[in-house]
Amino acid sequence: MDSLPIFFKLHGRRVILVGDSDAARAKLRLLLKTPAAILWLVADENAVKAARQDFSGLPALTILGRPLQSADLAHTALVYGATGVEADDRRIAALARAANVPVNIVDRPDLCDFTTPAIVDRSPLVVAIGTGGAAPVFGRRLRAMIEQLLPQGIGTLVARAGAFRGRLADLLPGQSARRRFWDRLFDTTNPQSLVGLDDDSFTHHLEKLAQDARTADKQGTTDGLVQLVGAGPGDPELLTLKAQRALQQADVILYDALVSPAILDLARRDADFHYVGKRQGDHGRGQEAIHDLMVRHVRAGRRVVRLKSGDPMVFGRAGEEINALRKHKIAVDLIPGITALSGCAATSEIPLTHRDHASAVTLVTGHVRAGSTLDWRALAGPDRTVAVYMGINTAQDISDALIADGVSPDLPLAIIENGTRPEERRLYGHLGDLAGLVARNQVKSPALIVIGTVALLAKDWPQNALSPGLGEAPIFSPAFSLVS
Ligand SMILES: C[S@@+](CC[C@H](N)C(=O)[O-])C[C@H]1O[C@@H](n2cnc3c(N)ncnc32)[C@H](O)[C@@H]1O
Repeated sequence: MDSLPIFFKLHGRRVILVGDSDAARAKLRLLLKTPAAILWLVADENAVKAARQDFSGLPALTILGRPLQSADLAHTALVYGATGVEADDRRIAALARAANVPVNIVDRPDLCDFTTPAIVDRSPLVVAIGTGGAAPVFGRRLRAMIEQLLPQGIGTLVARAGAFRGRLADLLPGQSARRRFWDRLFDTTNPQSLVGLDDDSFTHHLEKLAQDARTADKQGTTDGLVQLVGAGPGDPELLTLKAQRALQQADVILYDALVSPAILDLARRDADFHYVGKRQGDHGRGQEAIHDLMVRHVRAGRRVVRLKSGDPMVFGRAGEEINALRKHKIAVDLIPGITALSGCAATSEIPLTHRDHASAVTLVTGHVRAGSTLDWRALAGPDRTVAVYMGINTAQDISDALIADGVSPDLPLAIIENGTRPEERRLYGHLGDLAGLVARNQVKSPALIVIGTVALLAKDWPQNALSPGLGEAPIFSPAFSLVS
């Protein structure tokens, strides 16, 4: 590390900026965000007039039309030079150095005592990125990535939470309860929701969290937290920012069979990964064993992410896991994901509701428990869309049940296999041929069946899919279409 990154306090200090170039103005805009008193030296009185027009009504800013003088440098914290004239910039650097004032000459690393990093400003939270002048463009790219990761409201959250510290000490004298409070605050508060929240409501929110932390502390609830995270249908771009953050902070990740490897790649590399999945026919770890594993890791003080495909609350057994954690008094943080149906609807462009086709959508499992009775006719009646999860192995039973309940065998449908992944396939046909379509195309899990006339609106619905003998639509694979 050639330079030491530090944050320079500028309360009550003066910063001098010399020059009137675009670069100088960009520096001025940055400096105006600080509490420094700024002396801006421009070429002459004409330049002063123009500068005052552009930057009027700023009490911290003094604009003068003359060169830098040694006498200016007394009581000065920093000097920036951006005249764009080699001789002038050199003179500024020499004067500043003679007075022992750190100097930065824009775009002249050889004349600089310090550089200004790329900045992500969520004051009071500030992230500074430096490349030592080697790759400023990469620094700016990195800044854009960090900008995305840090929600806009995070600065407000940090500032307001900081102002609450004194009150918190009264509310929660115990250190462990306070630590619990801070963890819960940053784990579970969506900073975006705080934008526009008035001070009283925010204080109320913090008091409620403090109350919860005190109760949990009294009851001896464990400090650990399990985050139940939805991984979406497969495309890593469909992961929420919150899910991505959880994956990057996790110590332990328990993941299911359908979680795609591309998503696991986004997790903290040194996290402890446990595959706890079940594919059809393979019973994997029992549900009890998964509960035990979560409890054991949390008790050992680890941050546990339970990663499930799609949305944890849709055919994800989240209810059982939440219940088991509640029994052990372990807090759960739910992070929703994009369910397979939403992902498949997007890639196939099948609207799930449509004023001419469907005003209701039903999500149903094809993996029905013995003894359960579904009123298929009511599910798949006119004006309905039915999405069958886990229905590939029971395709024949599903179409038999629907047709026996009076649904037309001509009802259109779509099967989307590996939705949103590079290997996605979409098949189209009609209810009477559902099992045939699955068998002829050797459809494999994960696949979703979307039944209803909305399937006709798919972007690649083949016009002949309903004709007898042509129920099997051409296989469409985006992966192949890219190369053909
Ligand atoms: C145990 S359920 C989990 C559902 C998940 N929680 C969700 O919200 O998508 C598994 C079923 O979801 C469907 N599924 C999951 N990912 C899919 C994908 N990428 N494409 C199509 N179907 C998918 C399949 O029907 C699969 O058998």
